[in-house]
Amino acid sequence: MKKDEKTEALRAIRDEVMELKDSPLYTYRTESNYFPVLGEGNHDADIVFIGEAPGENEAKTGRPFCGRAGQILSELLETIDIKREDVYITNIVKDRPPKNRDPEPVEIALYAPFLDRQINVIQPKVIATLGRFSMEYIMKNYGLSPLLAPISALHGKAFLAELPYGKVHLVPLYHPAASIYNRATREDLEKDFIKLKKLIDSLQ
Ligand code: URA
Repeated sequence: MKKDEKTEALRAIRDEVMELKDSPLYTYRTESNYFPVLGEGNHDADIVFIGEAPGENEAKTGRPFCGRAGQILSELLETIDIKREDVYITNIVKDRPPKNRDPEPVEIALYAPFLDRQINVIQPKVIATLGRFSMEYIMKNYGLSPLLAPISALHGKAFLAELPYGKVHLVPLYHPAASIYNRATREDLEKDFIKLKKLIDSLQ
């Protein structure tokens, strides 16, 4: 698929999510004057980052990872010389859950098919999940359930999966927000980003 066709396909996904009246988060979105957050970045990216769900800053602007966690994500990308605009950043759940609560299984089930479609359009070589919700969803969905373990055991490791468009390397990472008050998690993230960079370079 050419890049402009990918952009068109991603727009169609966005339009469907805009109208997702079946979502338990739809009324909260409209009453709060929030936007759904579909994703941002290069539609031809080699790497896609998948977070959990938009927070308040994201829902107000419609942009993923634009608050404190996003600042950390940008810093981590900088440490490995990767520009934010060269990757694609999205979430499983596209609307903000009230009070930043964890996404409910029914919400993940409702929004995940849109994420699956985004991945099949972008066709990245590497998927980096941020936090346990996206790790668990992607591993289960890509036939890696038998390898599932707590994120403390899997972060920074690479798993290979076969998608309809080809092979994809999956790298679970801690959520950047988990490192705000935890120096050790920040150090783990920094080390894992170095591993991620090596993996990406080895695929060029
Ligand atoms: N946390 C997430 O998981 N996603 C965002 O977009 C922002 C914060």
